[in-house]
Amino acid sequence: MYKIINFDTLPSTNKYLKENYQNYNEYTVVSTYKQTEGKGRENKKWLAENNKNITFSILLKPTIDTTKLPLITLIAGASVRNVISKYHSSEIKWPNDIIVNNKKISGILVESIISNKIEALIVGIGINSNQEQFDSSIQSIATSLKIVLGKEIDNALLINQVIIEFDRLYKDFLNNGKEFLDVCRKYNYLQDRKIYHENNEYIVKDINDIGNLVVSDTNNCLKELFYGEVTLSNIY
Ligand code: BTN
Repeated sequence: MYKIINFDTLPSTNKYLKENYQNYNEYTVVSTYKQTEGKGRENKKWLAENNKNITFSILLKPTIDTTKLPLITLIAGASVRNVISKYHSSEIKWPNDIIVNNKKISGILVESIISNKIEALIVGIGINSNQEQFDSSIQSIATSLKIVLGKEIDNALLINQVIIEFDRLYKDFLNNGKEFLDVCRKYNYLQDRKIYHENNEYIVKDINDIGNLVVSDTNNCLKELFYGEVTLSNIY
């Protein structure tokens, strides 16, 4: 029931679905191996070498409350982590990165179209599969499956594996299951690490049921972080 539509090239699979979601059914997947204006979180670019890496977006039209939206990023993250881990051990850096050997191998950007209710959710996933050289701006923090495994990855197989796993965890979530949260907690890259968020220092304690990062501040008071980028002291 997931239908994959492959484009030779697109500015951005997320942008395409944001502009065209009304013409497609839920569970349509738009993919391309040549994204010319890939978008990351917080207005960053997503850079992927042409015909090497995976860039795709899944269209959802759920009848869920908007308060649950942050969980969709975690569902996608848990799915990608579970699939990447068939190839190499990996962890989730809350809220949207997948990490292998302390470097980013995948990023997730969920965008929503909301009027009175959720009209559409676009789950954008980029996975560095076969890229071997990265732009100097991200060289020290990015890796790929090919770099860590030393062999070419079958991109069509990888996309299918992620879609199947996403479907499983998303359906579990729609049935009030929380398997994705177990995955995010068990493979929480930030667990017990010192992080910085908006110039404050915290220690990461947990991820709670609404998808927030639970941290303790320098006075040992618990606090919840619900958005944004967190940075670590000396590693990515
Ligand atoms: C991030 O790590 O900041 C999120 C990156 C998300 C990249 C994917 S690639 C497919 C989809 N289309 C986009 O333009 N962005 C997402």
